[in-house]
Amino acid sequence: MKKITINDLIKWKQKGLKFATSTAYDASFAQIFESQDIPVLLVGDSLGMVLQGKKNTLSVTVEDIAYHTQCVRTGSPNCLLMADMPFMSYATLEQTYKNAAILMKAGANMIKIEGDSWLVSTVQTLTERAVPVCVHIGLTPQFINILGGYKVQGRDQEGADCIVKDALALQEAGAQMVLLECVPKELAARVTDILDIPVIGIGAGNVTDGQILVMHDMFGISSSHIPKFAKNFLEENGDICSAVAKYIEEVQNGTFPSDLHTIA
Ligand code: KIV
Repeated sequence: MKKITINDLIKWKQKGLKFATSTAYDASFAQIFESQDIPVLLVGDSLGMVLQGKKNTLSVTVEDIAYHTQCVRTGSPNCLLMADMPFMSYATLEQTYKNAAILMKAGANMIKIEGDSWLVSTVQTLTERAVPVCVHIGLTPQFINILGGYKVQGRDQEGADCIVKDALALQEAGAQMVLLECVPKELAARVTDILDIPVIGIGAGNVTDGQILVMHDMFGISSSHIPKFAKNFLEENGDICSAVAKYIEEVQNGTFPSDLHTIA
């Protein structure tokens, strides 16, 4: 696989070509993903749940993400590698600079932060300092104690309009990618159409530019709750490489997520 940059993703968006992405946490799986040409990998703070067995992502540290970022970068030298900034690691600008630098030096090409319009100044100052940013909007798992659970966001008109407005403000501030989680398909289509930057969806229907799955959900090996939008590709395809290849194919031709894996 050739080295993937944000410019490739923007070109694909402009041409209407969909792309598949996944979380990854170690070199072996990263190598498998690279062998199947997955262009983007995320070292997600979901590692708190799928690797560490915790109930949520809040206890994950910058050191955890940095360690797994180094592992994934070793296995996949050519993907565009995103690293999650964990809970409270970007609460102040000083913390944000310090922690983003740790993750970029560990091998990330982009950092991901969760939130909404309060992140405008964070995005602006990070991009001014050469740190590309993906903003995670919609359902933001680090806010579980504010949201009262893992709930679909933007169901009513006011909530939907707010998400669209925030997405535009964050793009304007310099965000280079959006990850949109657990919103109705119609809202995901609105956000994807209005933004020039690529939108990666999870639990947002097949209308976004890219899709992401937590790797353990792709292989049906999650010990925790399996969300409605997840699909076990290993079950139908027998081995890990074939499962990844099928996931990529179904994302590219728009058959995943189907209505069965889309929030009504
Ligand atoms: O941490 C994570 O794995 C995520 C998922 C929504 C992809 O952010």
